[in-house]
Amino acid sequence: MITYNEKDRIFKLDTKNTTYAFGFLSDFALVHIYYGDFIKNVRFIPDEFSYMERLGSSTEHGMENIGCIDVLPMEFSTFGHADTRLPTLNLKYADGTCASRFNYRNHKIFAGKPILRGLPATYVEDDNEADTLELEFYDNVKNVSVTLVYTVYREIDAITRSMRVKNESSEDVFITRIMSASVDFTTVGNEYDFLHLNGAWVREFKLSRDPLICGSQEVYSRRGTSSHHHNPFFAMVHRKADENSGNVYGFNLIYSGNFTGGIEVDTYETARCYIGINSFNFNWKLETGEEFQSPEAVLTFSSSGISGMSQIYHKLYRTRLCRGDFRDANRPILINNWEGTRFDFTEEKIVAIAEKASKIGLELMVLDDGWFGKRNDDHSSLGDWKPNLEKLPNGLNGLADKVNALGMKFGLWFEPEMISPDSDLYRVHPDWAIHLNNRTSSLGRYQLILDLSRKEICDFVISSVADILNNTNIEYVKWDMNRTFSEFGSVELPADRMGEFAHRYMLGLYYILETLTSKFPNVLFEGCASGGGRFDGGILYYMPQIWVSDCSDAGERLSIQYGCSLCYPTSSMGCHVSAIPNHQTGRLTSMKTRGDVAMMGQLGFELDMSLMTDEDLEAARKVIEKYRKYRDIFHNGNMYRISSPFESNEAIFQFISEDEKTVILLYSNKHAVPYGPHKRTTLVNLDPNANYIEIEDEISDALITPVTKGHNYFGYELMKRGLIFMEKRDYSTAIHVFRKED
Ligand code: GLA
Repeated sequence: MITYNEKDRIFKLDTKNTTYAFGFLSDFALVHIYYGDFIKNVRFIPDEFSYMERLGSSTEHGMENIGCIDVLPMEFSTFGHADTRLPTLNLKYADGTCASRFNYRNHKIFAGKPILRGLPATYVEDDNEADTLELEFYDNVKNVSVTLVYTVYREIDAITRSMRVKNESSEDVFITRIMSASVDFTTVGNEYDFLHLNGAWVREFKLSRDPLICGSQEVYSRRGTSSHHHNPFFAMVHRKADENSGNVYGFNLIYSGNFTGGIEVDTYETARCYIGINSFNFNWKLETGEEFQSPEAVLTFSSSGISGMSQIYHKLYRTRLCRGDFRDANRPILINNWEGTRFDFTEEKIVAIAEKASKIGLELMVLDDGWFGKRNDDHSSLGDWKPNLEKLPNGLNGLADKVNALGMKFGLWFEPEMISPDSDLYRVHPDWAIHLNNRTSSLGRYQLILDLSRKEICDFVISSVADILNNTNIEYVKWDMNRTFSEFGSVELPADRMGEFAHRYMLGLYYILETLTSKFPNVLFEGCASGGGRFDGGILYYMPQIWVSDCSDAGERLSIQYGCSLCYPTSSMGCHVSAIPNHQTGRLTSMKTRGDVAMMGQLGFELDMSLMTDEDLEAARKVIEKYRKYRDIFHNGNMYRISSPFESNEAIFQFISEDEKTVILLYSNKHAVPYGPHKRTTLVNLDPNANYIEIEDEISDALITPVTKGHNYFGYELMKRGLIFMEKRDYSTAIHVFRKED
């Protein structure tokens, strides 16, 4: 999978369908050669770089005949010489200068994939699954070494990259910028688009696609969390590429804090794609002998369009990022009380909800916010993780026993990273909250954040959650995080380490999550940050599912889940059926629509089930029944996005099971179009000559084509003629399931 051609000094990294190659023009200039569909042989094309513009740029000493590194496609770049673009790495030395010059020192290629100390990352279960290249450089003036780490998966078309920087000098060195990956592509500036996800609370994952411009385009977070506003993911997409064809390069950072990811295009149309920790206010001190490990970036290439890229991420994250007992298991279908009761509940109420839920086949009762301290609204008690005996007179155990007696598991909400100013914890330890001396701290949802850059506070968080998990039969934890950071810093950090704070917080959080998830392997952890405020690969390493959005409206969820699926698998999306009129939009949608939309992810319900009519309960039961039949295909099949809610009136997804025998079409439209046109929905990637038989008894408001159980089509008919829909009702959905005949 990884080879080194010593004569030409070229590294070739192959996955099953892709090749990534770079080589040395000199010990200093490591130049990117190729990233795309698999090719057998690579080489420097003679004179490829010699024409490179030099006027207006400086020429690197000794490289006069090679090309100017200001425009060469550099695989690894630093600052302070002839390359003036945004560097992969920028270091500041004790003498105040920032000029580095790294030369090749050595490299090794080995089977398998090393872990990233203290950080989440993709992994292998067997060394044969992947090869790793560690490529070391050294600056012999400043005595610093850099190791670029590349892993290629054999069967999954993904390449992971990270970097280690080690101070081998006798003076302090500061890292001011460290990109986990940067890749330069020549002459693409005019041909490609920047695809990214952005949003806000309750409208996460909006998909935007903009032409590359001369200059920089970035997604980023400076909020301390990966954020609702941008996701640590972007793609460079050929302008003619669509969901199913064309070249797409994906970049994703496995990280939950401040990040930056973007494309800098120079005036020669060279595009530098980069992703890493956000450099804004980042300043990491390396003392003599210390080493810094960057987070991991995951790169993908697909010539089968955007869906092709997504399928690679889905498979890798589902199978080699998520971990633990729940990774491959059918996860419990849950009922959560939050939207049903908010803070206003009693033990009786929760048991009444669980009773109804257990009757229609729900498996897990989750008690959300408000069970501890004196928390009757969001003004108090975060940090006081002791049950409120007024609401729960028999404590957590009393409630858990009653829920368990109904044959259901019991789960609990926590927001362990937080502290309310009105809490016993704050009264005892006001200094544990993130704050800066002599400054008033900003509140978010009336709360402060615990300083997880401090080990003793991390250990407190671990023990307060562990105490409850040890003493009550809790089989699920919803790990929430409901504010962004404001006053960055820790009173415990010295001045020259203050720029480390945001990353140290993340290391503290990852330490907590590693400890708790290893200690409680039987507990299913679900991530949440006011919905999708921290939906990233970092969290997925510890928790195999994340609540996608606090917007549970089926109509809005279609777009949110569509955007989320660009990078993240459906198996990682927490999706609930909630009450109507919807809390956020006031919209009325049928139980079928709400169920159809939620079942593409991890299905749950979030309403006061004790108030549901028998008719609604029966409709909910049918949702669960259908979900059980098809969840394996929704979660583990290949997903194709057929129609985008960002560009049309429909969101349509297709799933093909791993054995390619079952095909699901999930159709939905937004607004009704009275007596509107007949819309054709064509499927993709079927066997044109095979016979596909409808196996689901689908009754839908939208469908015109008479597809009932037993109806059959040839693959080419479904791909050419398709199914015909008329948008007769607002927010109608249809799930068609076809079984391929042998
Ligand atoms: C956040 C979560 C919700 C719910 C509330 C409780 O907003 O996203 O699902 O848990 O907190 O306060």
